Amino acid sequence: MRWSLPALFLGIVSLVEALNAKGDYRTLVVLEELADKSKYSKYIADLEDRGFSLTFESPKNEKLALFHLGERAFDHVLILPSKSKGLGPNLTPKLLLDFINGGGNIMLTLSSSVPTPSSLVSLLLELDIHLPTDRNALVVDHFNYDTLSASEQHDVVLLPRPDAIRPDVKNFFVGDGKGGDVLAFPRGVGQTLGNTSPLLTPILRAPRSAYSYNPKDDIEGVEDPFAVGPQLSLITTMQARNSARFTVIGSAEMLEDKWFDAKVKRSVGMGGAGSDAKTVSTANQEFIKEVTGWTFGEIGVLQVFNIEHYLNESGVRSNVTNPKIYRVKNDVTYNIEIREYFWDRYRPFVPPAGDSIQLEFSMLSPFHRLPLQYVKTPSGWGQYTASFKLPDQHGIFNFKVNYKRPFYTNIEEKNTVTVRHFAHDEWPRSWVISGAWPWIAGIGVTVTGWVAFVALWLWSKPVPLKLTTSGKKIQ
Ligand SMILES: *[C@@H]1O[C@H](CO)[C@@H](O)[C@H](O)[C@H]1NC(C)=O
Ligand SMILES: *[C@@H]1O[C@H](CO)[C@@H](O)[C@H](O)[C@H]1NC(C)=O
Repeated sequence: MRWSLPALFLGIVSLVEALNAKGDYRTLVVLEELADKSKYSKYIADLEDRGFSLTFESPKNEKLALFHLGERAFDHVLILPSKSKGLGPNLTPKLLLDFINGGGNIMLTLSSSVPTPSSLVSLLLELDIHLPTDRNALVVDHFNYDTLSASEQHDVVLLPRPDAIRPDVKNFFVGDGKGGDVLAFPRGVGQTLGNTSPLLTPILRAPRSAYSYNPKDDIEGVEDPFAVGPQLSLITTMQARNSARFTVIGSAEMLEDKWFDAKVKRSVGMGGAGSDAKTVSTANQEFIKEVTGWTFGEIGVLQVFNIEHYLNESGVRSNVTNPKIYRVKNDVTYNIEIREYFWDRYRPFVPPAGDSIQLEFSMLSPFHRLPLQYVKTPSGWGQYTASFKLPDQHGIFNFKVNYKRPFYTNIEEKNTVTVRHFAHDEWPRSWVISGAWPWIAGIGVTVTGWVAFVALWLWSKPVPLKLTTSGKKIQ
């Protein structure tokens, strides 16, 4: 078959477009032993199928660099567990934070079988994610374990897919939403989250009966566990203000081929739950695809495509779009088109039920804060719109949309306009103001009264003078 050059070029373009929203695909996989690659072969094949180009490097490689000439050399970094204590001078917490600040995404996997390198522990501390102080601690659950692989240790925790963290937050990790999926979390490290950071969102929390336990402490009963139950986050995400994403997966084994389709059978839980459990395959492969897709910007990416505002007095749209200046009390309409990237294409963005996008019209503080309504447009993408009357205040104002929600990239759009006061010939004339009518009538009455008085005065015949005999005037 012969390929013409343009067709080949188009093919390449569409291939590039089929990646994620920004066309980011350069991925660094930090892996100590290249031989370990075979453990993750299915996961790696999934990534490559989706268009990611993977570069495998050992942390010990001196040539490894996240930046080249001050620019990011990669778009995403996946860090798999390594046995060495540190990650070397090329993956210091500072460099990794610079990478996030530069807009790069990081997925970090932990494992209880190798202690987490200290540079990663400090990176996590920087983000207010805390690991157990015992470097060997793992999450166990005596009620939700896999009876086939961990009947003694109880360290393969089985859980359902996570619920949405709040009803008005989109849940990207539900799979097909039918329920009944089982996730295996083998020998993982639980994290606790500082409760001050608004950027942290856990995806998966431990079940109620789980706790963090160090198998080296061979004592009966755990005295003072690091954390218990849902305090333990098994998979945590952080989305920075620049929308760069960082995910910690407590169990690197979740990514292994072995657990992608392992057969598991859950134990009898509290209150006899799951006593009729059958042997089922785990949903790890689909779930890890969703977590990776989110981290590497394939889902949950919002993009603003078009913003317009215009004068819309008494329902008539002005010809001028996005003028720089309005007048106080003008009627204006604001439209914004937002699309959501979903795996390989854009779709119109619709916020979850119970949530809405708001427009602020603000000078220092908002004068208006209005919900934006979704309306259909001929292009099929739809847009969000609001029509309102400008406040009776002149100055420099912003049309501002500030939409920041867990799992969605942040939208912060500002369009600055001047609002001027009335020009002196824009005020209504006095005779159309009914309140002025008494005064206008007053002027009329005074003028006609004066004219009438003068006329009367002029037309009155003077009284003839009479003189007395002595010559004095009398009236
Ligand atoms: C003008 O504003 C009205 C509401 O005042 C709105 O219903 C109408 O759709 C707007 N027209 C345009 C073209 O945006
Ligand atoms: C808008 O454009 C049309 C045609 O160009 C013109 O007839 C009309 O007067 C313009 N309206 C305004 C408000 O400028």
